[in-house]
Amino acid sequence: MSLGFLKSFLRNPSTLGAIWPSSPFLAEEMVRASDLHAASSVVELGPGSGAFTGHILANLPTGARFAAIEKCPILAREVSGKFPEARIIEGCATRLSDHLNTENIPRPNAILSGLPWAIFDAGLQTSILNEVHGTLAEGGVFSTFAYYGPHRLAAGQRFRKNLERTFSHVCRNPVVMRNFPPAFVYSCKR
Ligand SMILES: C[S@@+](CC[C@H](N)C(=O)[O-])C[C@H]1O[C@@H](n2cnc3c(N)ncnc32)[C@H](O)[C@@H]1O
Repeated sequence: MSLGFLKSFLRNPSTLGAIWPSSPFLAEEMVRASDLHAASSVVELGPGSGAFTGHILANLPTGARFAAIEKCPILAREVSGKFPEARIIEGCATRLSDHLNTENIPRPNAILSGLPWAIFDAGLQTSILNEVHGTLAEGGVFSTFAYYGPHRLAAGQRFRKNLERTFSHVCRNPVVMRNFPPAFVYSCKR
């Protein structure tokens, strides 16, 4: 775990929403589920200390644009330092389309999220999911993960319903046991 992740957790656990960064196995599953092969524009929401970012960059087709949007200034700086080739925007996912317009980034073919949905209220979930849906390119994929177990609780069920209300196709991928806690990826299409 990075010092930035720990500091941010101690300062504001309700924004971070996780006690431990995701594993490389979950990162690989996020990338696999997002089908980046033919993408020309890819966006990450809530990169934290960059658990997914390096895997996304390693699988980005040549010439594709990439940007990540991170709300926490400490983590935005940390991930920017780790991946100087990536555009890290310090900002909020609720303003996704504004950020992409400002940066001149075309509609993404893939949006990968590390956002802590379980701690967001229904209004915030809906407003971010609407931004994601409205911003994705035709045929684009939105991928996000949920912890296995808590996904059965009310907050997890509410999030799944919210995904199904927003996207025409929601697929639940196999559980990644080599993550703490075990998790699975939802991949969603417009
Ligand atoms: C659980 S961490 C995930 C970090 C990393 N992707 C991983 O899986 O280990 C969630 C990240 O989302 C960021 N975040 C929370 N709300 C956000 C928002 N509205 N917009 C952008 N980032 C947000 C937090 O600051 C934190 O870095």
